[in-house]
This record gives sequence, structure tokens and C-alpha cells, in this order.
Amino acid sequence: MANIGSAFSSGEHLTAFNIRVDPVTQSAPPLLASPLGFGRHFTGRMFTQQYTAGRGWHNAAIGPYQPLLLDPAAQVFHCGQMIFEGTKAYLRPDGNINLFRVEKNAERFNVSARRLAMPAVDIDQHIQAIAELVKLERGWVPKQDGAALYIRPVMLAIENTLEVRGSHNFLHYIILSPVAPYFAGGFKPVSVLVSDDYVRTVRGGTGEAKTPGNYAGSLAGTDKALAAGYQQVLWLDGVERRYVDEVGAMNIAFVYGGKHIRTPMLSGAILRGVTRDSLLTLAPDLGYAVTEDRIDINEVIRDLRSGEITEAFGMGTGAVIAPVGRLHYQGSDHSFESAEAGPVARRLFKTLTDIQYGRVADPYGWTRIIDVATAESERQRQERSDEPCGTR
Ligand SMILES: Cc1ncc(COP(=O)(O)O)c(C=O)c1O
Repeated sequence: MANIGSAFSSGEHLTAFNIRVDPVTQSAPPLLASPLGFGRHFTGRMFTQQYTAGRGWHNAAIGPYQPLLLDPAAQVFHCGQMIFEGTKAYLRPDGNINLFRVEKNAERFNVSARRLAMPAVDIDQHIQAIAELVKLERGWVPKQDGAALYIRPVMLAIENTLEVRGSHNFLHYIILSPVAPYFAGGFKPVSVLVSDDYVRTVRGGTGEAKTPGNYAGSLAGTDKALAAGYQQVLWLDGVERRYVDEVGAMNIAFVYGGKHIRTPMLSGAILRGVTRDSLLTLAPDLGYAVTEDRIDINEVIRDLRSGEITEAFGMGTGAVIAPVGRLHYQGSDHSFESAEAGPVARRLFKTLTDIQYGRVADPYGWTRIIDVATAESERQRQERSDEPCGTR
């Protein structure tokens, strides 16, 4: 058992936060099946802490990855009070590990918590828990092109009651999964069905929160799209069923004339994507104009037909950019001319992934480096101090 300090090498000052580290039997990553897939393998350790009303967060620990033991009356099973997040750790060419905009992700975790009447986590402590866990599990960060270590923080209500009210007790945990890019086909255009019956969420609802109910509610529409031979659903707004919201679990953008990127504005129903924000920030530096506004699906179809829209793509942590190759709306299919990803999608993908993987300098200050050499010497020092007296 050891208490650990800051995980960052680069002069980060995090608040003092003691995480108990329990021993695990399996410390080395096994040889993973190929292809890696997305979210099928999990590392040997997880972070957990508990919240109790009146006491706050306590009992922060990193221990073996293991099943949760929950009472069948736990509120999460009845009220669905639960949130989660998704961010990634990337292997840099120098062997160190990058976290990408992890504070923005942590802030969104708290936005979700507020919407679901759950307690906030301390942002610095949440990031420190992620960093310590990734540091311990550094051997699991995959080396394959486009692969990364996916980080999944979760919070759920664990008070045992059937009353419909906010829970007083919560569990916060973080697990890690080595992943390939989200779409098995790699950076290949996906086909999309515009859903004009099911909607994902409405303004004032939970669309800005990352909570399982949004995803459960999207599955019937997604199944329908898959059965019809499409890979993703494009969600329209929940009131008029006319304005573009998101595509699958990604934000969406349309490219006009190869130069102008247009994306739905943040309406309150759309998740505030970290990838969306990053691409909108770097696109003007690459010479693209950017507009955030209400986008009418009828306009999209018209501009697609006339050739004014030259590309469309989804934006999210899993795929980074998922080019759209074909869009189906009210009985008609509309395809982009090229069956390949367009030049804007390619350029944005390369620019952003080069920063995420540390292949180029990060002019935006988005990455935090976990220094693996320091982590390794810390481990050796720890091992030496754990040796019984007289063995040296
Ligand atoms: C519904 C939804 N929209 C958009 C996104 C993209 O967000 P990010 O870029 O932060 O991954 C996600 C993924 O988290 C999502 O689940």
C-alpha cells in the first residue's frame, strides 16, 4: 500500500489528495487479441471513491479491476441517476503518455453531475486519479497506429431506496480500456440515416449531460438504422424535428465549398464535445471559416444536392473524425461524390491527432504529459522501500 503524489512531470501543482494504492496480482498487460476493437479489454486496476451526504468524497483508492457489489434496491437501477465520461491517453513518440484536454472533460463530468442532481467531484482530484491510474497502467497504452487507452469515469447512485429523489450516496470509479479507433473500417466514410421519428433529447432535457438514459433512448433508432443498412443515426431537434443536432454519439459538421465549416450551435440539447471545440479552435488557424448556427435538414439536403456541401463529418473522442459518405432522409439517399474521406476531414484529423499523440508541438496547451521514466523510477524506489529489512 502506498500513497502517491502528483502524476505530472511538467510542474503541475495538484491539491494534496491521497489515493490508497492496493496491490494487484496481475500487473503486466496480457497480449491483447487483434483486432483490438473498442472497449472490449480492461486493464487490471480501477480507481474508486465513495460519497456520503454530510461527509463528502472519501476512501479514494486504486485497486484491482473487479465487479461492483450493489444492492438490487440501489437508486441507479430505479431512477437511473448515473453519469459517465470518455477521454483518452495517447502514446507519444518519446514513450511518454499524453492526456488530452482532461480538464475540459472533467468539467463536463461536473456539468452532467449538476444536471442529474449528483455531487460534483473536485476537478484536480478527478484528474489526479486519472493520471495516477494511467501512470500505473502505462504498459496498457497500445502502440498500434490510431489506438489509445480509453478512460471511462463513471458516477452512480448507490443509496438503497425506491423513493424517487436524489440519492445521498454515490460511487465514483474510473476504468481503462485499450482501444482501436471506434469504427472498425478506420478513417472510412460512414452511412447515416436521418431519424425523423425517434429523437435523442430536447432542450431543457439531459442532452448536455453524458448520462446513460440518452444512450438507452437512442438504441431503438440506431437498431432501425443498422437494420436498414446504415451505420449511424443523425438526430434532429426534439421539438420541430427539423434542425440537425448530432450524429450517433458525435457532434456533426458540414463543409461548404471546401473552405467553410458549419456546425449546429450548442442549443442545450447537444453534448458540448471536446473534439468539436478543439476542431473549431484549430480550423481558423488552418484557414477555414467556422459558423455555429441552427442547421435545417432541408437546407442540408438542398446544399448536398447542389454540391455546395462538399463534406460532412462526425466529431468525437472515439473516432476523432468520422467522415459521412451517404445520408438518407425521408426515402432518398444522398451520397458524396467521393467514397473517400474529404480533404478538410483529412487535414483536421491529421492536425488534431498529431497534437494528441505528441507528434508535433501543442500550441494550444491541450496536452498533459505523464512522464513514464519518472513513473518507472518511482516504482523501483517504492519496491525497494517495500523490501523487508535485511534483504539489501
Ligand atoms: C452524444 C455525444 N455527442 C458528442 C460526443 C463527442 O464528444 P467528445 O468530443 O467530447 O468525445 C459524444 C462523446 O462523448 C457523445 O456521446
